[in-house]
Amino acid sequence: GKVIAVIPAAGQGSRMGSAVKKQYLRLVDKPVLRHTLDVIEQCSVIDGIILVVAPGEEAICQDMINQGHALSKIMAVVPGGNHRQTSVYYGLCALPEDTELALIHDGARPLVRPQEITSVIEVARDMGAAALAVQVKDTIKVVNQENIIVATPQRETLWAVQTPQVFRYPLIMQAHRQALDRGYYATDDCALVEALGVPVKLVPGSYENLKITTPEDLVLAEAFLKRRMQ
Ligand code: CTP
Ligand code: MG
Repeated sequence: GKVIAVIPAAGQGSRMGSAVKKQYLRLVDKPVLRHTLDVIEQCSVIDGIILVVAPGEEAICQDMINQGHALSKIMAVVPGGNHRQTSVYYGLCALPEDTELALIHDGARPLVRPQEITSVIEVARDMGAAALAVQVKDTIKVVNQENIIVATPQRETLWAVQTPQVFRYPLIMQAHRQALDRGYYATDDCALVEALGVPVKLVPGSYENLKITTPEDLVLAEAFLKRRMQ
């Protein structure tokens, strides 16, 4: 069966606070989003790509796609919504009906490696739902509205989830439709599948697969990229 990637890149990048949206910022030699698309393109297990961009940005995006070598796997560029979840849902709705696995990967995670993508897909083929993640390094506190600590979960039980997150296509569609029906929004897609009571398996990834979110992430990402180029 086919494995199709949905790349949500329709966000505002408000925490970055830059004039140019973070997905279009230059990272060493090309825009963040172009790095992401190039990794997905070169990953042989992926058959197609649906790119989700902010409404009105389709043309800017097409320019970025047309520059450099051809991206042969892009099947469609579709407009996103106000929440990440909505953008992903619009992307999922554009997948061919015979898609076996939907792979969801943030446009703002340019440093994912093809081997990591392959390992999540393998687990998802087996389990139905899988995501890359890393163990948290900091001790995490739960606080109330006054920033008073109310709980300290055992660090060994805590993982920072990343993308790709990979699901059997009917499962992720059901998860999104239930969330839509019930009006809840989550910051990742695993949460929607968890809400169905279906197990989602985490696959150990790399700390380098960071999400470009605030300005210091760009500094880190540049350092990681330059180290890889040596
Ligand atoms: N995203 C999206 N549609 C949205 C919001 C987010 O497609 N309405 C995408 C982003 O472009 C990004 C990924 O989802 O590739 C992860 O979201 P996040 O890091 O939160 O990006 P932004 O929402 O753009 O940033 P911020 O939350 O700081 O505004
Ligand atoms: Mg956001």
